[in-house]
Amino acid sequence: MIRSVVRGFGTALPKRVLTNAELESMVDTSDEWIVQRTGIQQRYIAGEGETTASLGEGAARAALDKAGLTAADIDLIIVATSTPDNTFPATAVNIQNRLGMHHGFAFDLQAVCSGFVYAVTTADAYIRGGLAKRVLVIGTETFSRILDWTDRTTCVLFGDGAGAIVLEAREGTGTNTDRGVLTTQLRSDGAHRDKLFVDGGPSTTGTVGHLRMEGREVFKHAVGMITDVVYSSFDATGLTADDIDWLVPHQANKRIIDGSAKKLGIPLEKVVVTVDQHGNTSAASIPLALAAAASDGRIKEGDIVLLEAMGGGFTWGAVLLRW
Ligand code: UT7
Repeated sequence: MIRSVVRGFGTALPKRVLTNAELESMVDTSDEWIVQRTGIQQRYIAGEGETTASLGEGAARAALDKAGLTAADIDLIIVATSTPDNTFPATAVNIQNRLGMHHGFAFDLQAVCSGFVYAVTTADAYIRGGLAKRVLVIGTETFSRILDWTDRTTCVLFGDGAGAIVLEAREGTGTNTDRGVLTTQLRSDGAHRDKLFVDGGPSTTGTVGHLRMEGREVFKHAVGMITDVVYSSFDATGLTADDIDWLVPHQANKRIIDGSAKKLGIPLEKVVVTVDQHGNTSAASIPLALAAAASDGRIKEGDIVLLEAMGGGFTWGAVLLRW
């Protein structure tokens, strides 16, 4: 059986850090409110010349370096983003060109905060189906460019950044002892559209629009949806919460992360948290957190790693893999 194994990882962040203290001078908020309600202490904001494609390129180059590969070794690039450089062509094609890659194929995938989980699932399907051998999976966002900077209920929550992994086809035994992706679980339900959306688009307003969110409503659904897909991952593999070495959740809110871990019975020492440093970077949050824990030696080869996310759509999903 073919498995999709993580061979490299990398990140890129904008130069500029925006602290909670600076936000206090922009909207009616406080460092205390932001930290207590979300766990966020700072976020990175893209400046001039920094775009979703340039950040994605940086993360991709770092992941290729770590893997000891070049763009010549990649056959597919999947970019998860909701903040593309242009309506078209895809940011993935832009990054492909920036990497000097003119073979293979590249496309974008849009599942908002669940984008990275959707992209890993898609890459795994292409790899197991024999359509690709090595896939660059990139989550990259510049949410700062779709925020309403006068709306304190949303502008304090999000940040910019990018993370990438290289997934490679390897022969496995078909059991949980294999390295690589062991199961993926995706869900969506468009009935929840109005709770988290962007009020513009090419086919409606002809504008880019701004992010709108009923935070409390999203919060209400988050823990239940996250834990449901995780339980499905356990059912599919026979693994349990006790087998998880590292939970790497989407980084939206420390309270959602803690609540999900508690409900799943995963101790907080096994949970990777970067929301304090990055804020919510949507599709980039999981690969940013993964890279943080893998590069400081927490995640080691052979560890069981659980990824989960929930976001606009609603979309939600989980990936269980052995590092
Ligand atoms: O990434 C994908 C999905 N997104 C999420 O997962 C986000 C989910 N939601 C959340 O994380 C939380 O709901 C928020 C962090 C957005 C809000 O936290 P909350 O505990 O649900 O607060 P709330 O919306 O119930 O607001 C409580 C109060 C309100 O004032 P009143 O009505 O009680 O007087 C808000 O107006 O806090 C007020 N408030 C603020 N105060 C200071 C809202 N935003 C701010 C702010 N600074 N930035």
